[in-house]
Formats: sequence, C-alpha cells, structure tokens
Amino acid sequence: MDNFFISTAISYTNGPPHIGHAYEVIAADVIARFKRLEGKNVFFLTGTDEHGLKVQQKAIKLEISPQELADQMSGNFIEMGRALHCSNDDFIRTSEERHKKAVREIWLKMKNNGDIYLDDYSGWYSLIDEAFYNEDELIKDDKGKFLSPNNTPVEWVEEQSYFFRLSSYQEKLLSLYENNFIQPKSKMNEIKNFVEGGLRDISISRKGLDWGIRVPEDDDHSVYVWVDALTNYISALKWPEKSDLFDNFWPGDLHLIGKDIVRFHTVFWPAFLLSAGLELPKQVFSHGFILNKGEKMSKSLGNIEDPMSLAKTFGVDQLRYFLMRETPFGNDGNYSDELLINRVNADLSNDLGNLSQRCLTMVKKNCDQSIPQKNKLNNVDQELLNLVDRKKASIIKLMSSYQISSYISEVFELVSDTNKYFSDQKPWDLKTSDPARMNTVLWVSCEMLRRIGILLQPVIPIGSSKLLDFLNIDSDKRLINFLSDDYVLESGKPIKDPEIIFPKIDLIK
Ligand code: MSP
Repeated sequence: MDNFFISTAISYTNGPPHIGHAYEVIAADVIARFKRLEGKNVFFLTGTDEHGLKVQQKAIKLEISPQELADQMSGNFIEMGRALHCSNDDFIRTSEERHKKAVREIWLKMKNNGDIYLDDYSGWYSLIDEAFYNEDELIKDDKGKFLSPNNTPVEWVEEQSYFFRLSSYQEKLLSLYENNFIQPKSKMNEIKNFVEGGLRDISISRKGLDWGIRVPEDDDHSVYVWVDALTNYISALKWPEKSDLFDNFWPGDLHLIGKDIVRFHTVFWPAFLLSAGLELPKQVFSHGFILNKGEKMSKSLGNIEDPMSLAKTFGVDQLRYFLMRETPFGNDGNYSDELLINRVNADLSNDLGNLSQRCLTMVKKNCDQSIPQKNKLNNVDQELLNLVDRKKASIIKLMSSYQISSYISEVFELVSDTNKYFSDQKPWDLKTSDPARMNTVLWVSCEMLRRIGILLQPVIPIGSSKLLDFLNIDSDKRLINFLSDDYVLESGKPIKDPEIIFPKIDLIK
C-alpha cells in the first residue's frame, strides 16, 4: 500500500492554542483526509513541544511545575484537535519517555559521528524563538536595542555548551535544495541564500536548564529544545526501535510548518539526520500566518482568537472552510468575524446549501423520496457530468501541490455550474409538463451533489458526510475512485430526509 506521513509542528505548552495553531492542524487534516480518499495509508502526526526555558519560566510565573503546565496545555491542544474534527493518528508529547529515549539516541549517534564537541558559547539568545543568533542577524529597535529577526527580545548568553558541526553540512544541504525539498519556492530561495552565506556550528545544549532532557553522560547540560523537538517526527514512529511504523512511514512525506520555523526544519533537521545516518524527509511546506484584522496576534495586543470558541459560535465546518478557502496556502491570511460570515454565507449557505436543499426537497416530494429515474441524458446533462471527468485530474493535482484554496475554489465552480443547470432546467416547471425530464434533471443534480460531496470531505467533513448520507451513499463508496462514471447513483434507492446543512449566519454587529 502507498504510505503517506504528514506532520505538523509541535506547539509550545507555554500558552493555550490560538487560531494560528488551529490553521496549521486543519490544513494538515485536509491533506491527510485527502490522501486517505486517494486510498493511501496515512499517518498524521501532531503534538506538543514541552521542554525549554520558555515553558519553565511560564510555569514559575503560574506557581505550578512545568510538567503540570505541559499536562494542562497539551490537554487543550488535544481537545482543540478533536473539536475541529482533526483525524491525527497520534499525538506526541516531548515529555513522554518514548520521546526522551529517541532524543538521547540521536544525540549519541551525532556524537559518535564526531559532530558534537564541548566549547564556550557567547552570543545572543531569544527566549521566545528559543534560538541563538549571530550579531549580524539582529536588528535594532528605535531605542537602539537589539532584536531577533522575528522582532523578539534577545539576551547575551555566555556559558559552556555543546556544539554541533553544522558547518560540515553546507554542501550536502545545498544539494538537497536542488529538489523540491522546500515549498513554496520563495522560502527555498531564502534558505538557499542563508546556507550559501556560510554555516557556523551551532550550540545544542543549555547549562543549568532544569526543564529539559539531560545530555547523555553529562547531567550539567540539557539538550537544546530544537534538537529535542525536531526528533518528535521519528520518536512518534518508535525510532530507535525497529518497527513497521518506522519502516512504513520514514522518510516522512511532508512536514507542514509555519513560515517562522523554516530554518530549523530545512537546515538543522536535515543536518542532524544526516549526522545520525538517517534518511531525510521528502518535503517541508511553509504556510503563512493568520493575522487578526491585519495585525499579528499577541497577548499584549489582546487580539488572540480562540479557535474553540469560534468553532462553537460559527460551526466547525464553517471555521475550517473559511481558513482553508480564504487565503492561498503559503500566503498570510486574515481573520475577522465579518470575513468568515461573508464567506460562509456566500459559499456554504447560498451556493452549496441552497443547491442541496432545493434539489433534495424536490426529490423528497416528487420522487417518492428515492433517487430519481435517470431517463435519456441530453447534451446539457452530459456536459455538466463530463465537467467532473474533465476537471478531476487538475483538481486532484491542486491538492497534490497543497494549493488547498484553489482546490476548494475549483470544486465550488462545479457547485455554481450545477446551480446554473438547476435554475436553467427549472425542474419545478417540468413537474406536470414532462415528469420524465424532471426526474432526469433531478438525477443529474443529485449525481453532481454526490461528486461534489466526495471532493469536499477533506475540507468540511461534517457537512459533506451529511450530504452523502442524505443521498444514501455507502460509506465505503466515498473515495476519489468513486468519482468515475462507473459508480453513478442508483435510481430508486431511498434517500434520507434532507435538512439544512449550513444555516445562514446573522451578521454580528
Ligand atoms: N515548538 C515549535 C515548533 C517545533 S516543531 C519541531 C513552535 N511552536 S509554536 O507553538 O510557536 O508554533 C506551532 C506552529 O504554529 C508553528 O508551525 C508556527 O509557525 C504556527 N503558528 C504560530 N502562530 C501562527 C499564526 N498566527 N498563524 C499560522 N500559524 C502560526 O514553533
């Protein structure tokens, strides 16, 4: 069977999930669900990154232990995933023993390969990014104070530290970038330039950090949180144990991450893997950030959107649909209630919802609540049905290159073509004049709804399964393969009582 391993970044447990975290896990879920529809054997992984100074300091502030904080927060992330109907196969926590074992092992492998040495570190560190910076990478604020390239505060650090010989990997990394390892291309160029500029060895331990995994054979040091965190992608596959899970899913197919952590995934991570003698993941895709009405979300601005309460207010499918449809995947996007309401009302309530409601209500009333009789198809009918055949390959290709928003927009073209067909053919007028033709028009419309329903499952799993349930489609006949003409709707099969799937949302002032 064709295997596919997709992972998200693992989230820090120093705060609860926000809409940016939801965005990433929903996108990964859409891709995972789509791959399953293609018949692939998918392993979809997400989790929490629990160690490090940032989490430790937050716990001290709350007067609880870092483990208690991590337990609470990872609970919130797990709950968010469930609430948003994310279909992850595992949830890795870096405080789990299975993970710690893998981190110690990858450290030893890198060390045995001669890539780790002890030295003195002096330089800048950003706690928020959990990253070391060279002075030439820093920017100055208006008071002349240094900031990291992500605009976060930095502090001067001088301590004994273990180093990783990143400098030895420049050539190998550059040849890795010759393929499509980094997406989108703009990010690839940025990373390529960075690596071409020369790589220095990096510090990979912190002295005196309590909340971390101890360096093997040296209790005074803890493993730098990024060495720890990145290893989750293989510890969740049971590495270093020999297992079918690891054999089937490593090298991973896709690490889906935000644009702020590309360097860690495309420079550090492949270098660590090369050093440890492990295969490299096939692709890293960097998505954009969700902004709140154009502004970066932050605690100090008080503009952090809670995905759970948005899903409660507007609906799970509605939130998923908006986040995936509104912005081309890879670009930054904007959140506001108004944008969501307008998008959902226009596409889900008006276009898709009305089509299914009008069509299925007519079927219920006029066709004995069963799939209508399909009589002779004319050119118009055939043309509409052929559209799916003609467009299928290009629509699928969009999802294969993770152009999620374009995929959705293409499927909604089919919705609007079907709406136009329905209005033009006026089945309500045919009721008395030509009932056989009315049946055919309703059959064609139902058949289009079946195909649209199949294609929308990854994005709006709740609404599309309702739609496919109304049409009484067997649950094992909802895969991409069943889009073909060989599996069209069976006339006479009873349908379920249709209901409104996407009620219109009132604009909140
Ligand atoms: N713990 C690290 C990742 C380690 S992966 C081995 C981390 N955690 S995070 O909680 O800060 O971010 C988790 C993911 O959410 C990252 O991919 C990050 O880019 C993404 N996002 C954080 N804020 C975001 C938005 N506002 N919008 C979209 N994604 C954002 O980084």
